[in-house]
Amino acid sequence: MLAARRINPLFRNIEKTVKNYDRHVSTGSSLLSMDVANEPDVPKMVTDIPGPKSKQLIKELAQIQNVGAVHFFCDYDNSHGNYLADVDGNVMLDLYTQISSLPLGYNHPAIINAVSKPENLSTFVNRPALGVYPPADWVSRLQNALLSVCPPGMTKVQTMACGACSVEHGLKAIFIKYMNDQRSGEAPSMEEMDSCRVNKAPGSPPLTILSFDNGFHGRTMGALACTHSKWLHKLDLPQPDWPVVRFPDLKYPLECNTAENKAEESKVLEEVEDKIEEYNKKGLPVAGIIIEPVQCEGGDNFASKEFFQGLRDITNKRKIGFLVDEVQTGCGVTGKFWAHEHFNLTDTPDVVTFSKKMLTGGFYQKESFIPKEGYRIFNTWVGDPGKIALLEEVVKVIKEENLLDNVKVTGNYLLSNLEQMQTKYPGILSKARGLGTLCAVDFPDAATRDKVIGYLRAKGVHTGACGEATLRFRPTLLFQNKHVDLFMERFDDVLSQVKK
Ligand SMILES: Cc1ncc(COP(=O)(O)O)c(C=O)c1O
Repeated sequence: MLAARRINPLFRNIEKTVKNYDRHVSTGSSLLSMDVANEPDVPKMVTDIPGPKSKQLIKELAQIQNVGAVHFFCDYDNSHGNYLADVDGNVMLDLYTQISSLPLGYNHPAIINAVSKPENLSTFVNRPALGVYPPADWVSRLQNALLSVCPPGMTKVQTMACGACSVEHGLKAIFIKYMNDQRSGEAPSMEEMDSCRVNKAPGSPPLTILSFDNGFHGRTMGALACTHSKWLHKLDLPQPDWPVVRFPDLKYPLECNTAENKAEESKVLEEVEDKIEEYNKKGLPVAGIIIEPVQCEGGDNFASKEFFQGLRDITNKRKIGFLVDEVQTGCGVTGKFWAHEHFNLTDTPDVVTFSKKMLTGGFYQKESFIPKEGYRIFNTWVGDPGKIALLEEVVKVIKEENLLDNVKVTGNYLLSNLEQMQTKYPGILSKARGLGTLCAVDFPDAATRDKVIGYLRAKGVHTGACGEATLRFRPTLLFQNKHVDLFMERFDDVLSQVKK
């Protein structure tokens, strides 16, 4: 590691940062770590994006793989805090953060420290098959990184690799629990064990999961069956006949449409009940419901806590599983560690999936959802201890620096600024909404939204799209009011340009 520090320019830069950071932590300074993390004050744009070096690299990559989704190549050595550098020397304020997956920004000193510690060396060097051969520090790492931030009422966690993989196995846990209940906990029959190997009943029962239109849960086959955002994800792929219900379509501003929105959500809850009845009757029993606390990829669609309470009550009444997918909404972005904590549910969810800002995939679950046999929820790695070691640091920083409070303060400021902009540009912006820094605003159409994203990028702000015509904000947990000001100044410029 010392040799690496000598040759890698990142480490030359970082050594100073880590020292500053250590001093900052030891003096108990209330500054956010980002203030000592080499962040530039403003963006710096020197070329169009993608610039010439990015274009050349995209050409080279195209010889190897599909580059249809590649925007530009990045210079991670020179990216710091909330600022992302590209290979052409542009430095952008990043409000999209690797598709919402950077809790502490780029090159955070606490993370670099963790990678540099000799006692962590073997964690990063070896990748064990964790489900079979876990290392001695695995239990304490799980406790520090994952159990210390457990959703209220949950005490069990299973690590996985990515978001889709977590959803996939979360769904399996629900099906397995449902069938275990059907058998009253008895062992499966020989016929069941034989028939499941060739995809036949009774061992492969025709169970279903109810999901919501415009929801997104990943691209593996089980998760994809619950994903209903873009055709691009689903075309040409065989899908099971699983029930889909529309997500409530709330009218904004919320405070002026309370009665109408309440009626809309009650209607959707009725539709959920009807759909479950319909599928139960046609021999495709519903074993569970999957939902995001905020539909993210599908357009940042919100529903009220009463709606989620209603869903939880339906699942409890019918004794079916309730999976809350927090892959994008978890890890503090809404001002609480888990978004569903805002809902005051009558009972905790049965399964809560996570990934993205948590750095590892996985899911929390109620004890009754853990299968009796080993290997039923399993793969070779079941996660990566290196990522858990990094998450330990992330969780420590979140707690030490009260980052959930920071998210609340910055989120309120961001939303109130978006509302002001919406008043200033009524024909262009609508439905400003958000919880914490998970904020969004709509445009009249995708073309206008995409034009604004392009103009913003030229001014040094990297943002992302979702849904049909939505601009979404997915900054780090270290995002502050000063970054909001910097963004708003440029947003105002761009909107006045678009208005002409
Ligand atoms: C709510 C939700 N679930 C699941 C996924 C899938 O995660 P991954 O892309 O890591 O497979 C995503 C990804 O955006 C997501 O937003």
